[in-house]
Formats: sequence, structure tokens, C-alpha cells
Amino acid sequence: MFEAIRGRRSVRRYLDKPVEEEKVLRCLYAAHWAPSAHNSQPWSFVVVRDPETRRRLAEVHRWGRFMAEAPVAIAVVGDPGLSSFWREDLGAAVENMLLAAYAQGLGSCWMGVAGTEYEEPIKRILGIPGRLRVLCMVSLGYPAEKPTRGRQPLKSKVHWEKYGVQRDFEEPRFPS
Ligand SMILES: Cc1cc2nc3c(=O)[nH]c(=O)nc-3n(C[C@H](O)[C@H](O)[C@H](O)COP(=O)(O)O)c2cc1C
Repeated sequence: MFEAIRGRRSVRRYLDKPVEEEKVLRCLYAAHWAPSAHNSQPWSFVVVRDPETRRRLAEVHRWGRFMAEAPVAIAVVGDPGLSSFWREDLGAAVENMLLAAYAQGLGSCWMGVAGTEYEEPIKRILGIPGRLRVLCMVSLGYPAEKPTRGRQPLKSKVHWEKYGVQRDFEEPRFPS
């Protein structure tokens, strides 16, 4: 688990190699077991393999052009009628999905959709009913790049007992 959390990176270039259905299903299963406020599970998923549909999605989403290249794109759909915490629940589900992808040798990338100008066109392309929301799209595929990306020092993000009280500490290492 620690290796996956630390090793996962957003992958935006993919090999022209199909992803096995069982791997996709495991990603969805991991998402489905995320924590959910009142266990309302306000998520659903639209799995898109069709190249023409992926091309249309890629055309719409300025920061998701690689959906045309990734063999699988998944729309993560929320039902605000089921829970006011739908965004939180879906966010947890997406992280599970990305980690499950990594654990199976797949690359993935989260593309933000909810509240952007891409949301309505994406709903139209995928036939998603008006009362539902699209939190994001997730691309899946075998990686054709190995991105490295950093983080700001953890100590700059941590406050002790009261906000504003910060101190120096060594970044922990995950056990291997
Ligand atoms: C809410 C959200 C929206 C994102 N939207 C996009 C996007 O539209 N396109 C993209 O290429 N990456 C997107 N990302 C991925 C981030 O750019 C990426 O997670 C960040 O740069 C850190 O890199 P890492 O995931 O490799 O650690 C998004 C991530 C999140 C959490």
C-alpha cells in the first residue's frame, strides 16, 4: 500500500495495448469500496473503450487530450440527490481506482470535470442524465512514460496543536 501511494504518478502517454477487462473491473471494485458518507455510494461509472467516443471526449476536454490515446476512459458520475457529500465520496473512490490501476501495472490520470465547461458536453456525449454530475474522467492504460513529480516539504503543510505553529522534522520513509 505504501509503495503504491508513493509510486503512483499521473500518466498521460500510453502504449497502444488493450487493457484486460479483469484489470478494469478491479479498478472499479476498488473505487466501489471507498468510504462513503452514510454509505450512500453516490457513484456510478461509465467505461469507454470505443475510440471514436474517446476522440470526442478528448476534443472537448482541453487538459484531457490523451483520452484519445488511452485505451480506456472512465467517467466518474455522482448523484447529488443521494448525498450532499457526493464530491468527497467520489474523490475517495477515484483515489482507490488510481491506486488499483498502479497495483496492476497500469498508468492513470485524473481529469477534473465537475464545474468546468467540459461537464455538459461530456454528459451529452455519454448520455448521462441531467440530475447527475461528472466529477472527473480517469484514463487507464499501459504507461509509455515514467513521470517524476515532486511535492512541497511535508513540514510546510503541518501545524502542531494550533494553526501557524510549525516545526522542523525529517520526512518519514514508508516501510518497504
Ligand atoms: C481534481 C484534479 C483534477 C485534475 N485534472 C487534471 C487534468 O484535467 N488534466 C491532467 O492532465 N491532469 C489532471 N490532474 C492530475 C494532476 O495534474 C496531478 O495529480 C498533479 O500534477 C500531481 O502529479 P502526480 O499525480 O503525478 O503526483 C488532476 C488532478 C486532480 C486531483
